[in-house]
Amino acid sequence: MNRRYRKTIIAGNWKMNKTATDTKKFAEELKAVMPKAKWCDVVVCVPFVNIPSAIKAFKDMRVSVGAQNVFYEKDGAYTGEVSADMLKDLGVKYVIIGHSERRQYFGETDFTVNKKVHAALEAGLHPIICVGESLEQRELGITMELIALQVKSALAGIPADKLRKCVIAYEPIWAIGTGKTATAEQAAEVCTFIRTTVRHLYGARIARSITIQYGGSMKPGNASELLAQPDIDGGLIGGAALKANDFVEIIAAANQD
Ligand code: 13P
Repeated sequence: MNRRYRKTIIAGNWKMNKTATDTKKFAEELKAVMPKAKWCDVVVCVPFVNIPSAIKAFKDMRVSVGAQNVFYEKDGAYTGEVSADMLKDLGVKYVIIGHSERRQYFGETDFTVNKKVHAALEAGLHPIICVGESLEQRELGITMELIALQVKSALAGIPADKLRKCVIAYEPIWAIGTGKTATAEQAAEVCTFIRTTVRHLYGARIARSITIQYGGSMKPGNASELLAQPDIDGGLIGGAALKANDFVEIIAAANQD
């Protein structure tokens, strides 16, 4: 973390978990244990159908609500899709774009990710852009090339003044839901590389101000070490964000000096 230059953001990604009723219960549990002063922003990205109950439940807690996906068209005949304006209108602040599960199961590509980033920014949402390599790619030694490609494609055509609204999340696919966390050195190496890539594209000032998260089996036991890395400005948390007590411990780790 480097709070002097950029926001630390702890974001939960609930994936396809919890009902609207569970959402309310989670918010009550979180409220009971949440520290009063927070030096980090806290976000909970819930399934679309839980957004209204999440907005209501987290209203007085300084917890922002995020979505896990968005479609890039403004409106029209796109059965089953949800637009950025619809999310914004509900009070959503963040939206995860290009999560590896969406790339793997739902045909998300670098091209659609870029279109979604444009759409999210146009609606005034903060995109959390996910990038990350598979185990095979890591073993082939092409991690950095792949990450550079993903970052550059996601940000193609995004003007510098909009970049402050973007968050990039490095999520190595082999560490997601596997219990296998990247070591702090591995995570830091790629997060630093992402910042360097942004610097080449937009210059030092913007690169210094962008929040870069790590995601992949982040939990209370490893959060402090990961967040101690200067280029890791928060976490995108799956499993450990489903339990209020675990989530709050990660928030506490981000609140340390
Ligand atoms: P886990 O924390 O369950 O590994 O999931 C990480 C993730 O995919 C967050 O988007």
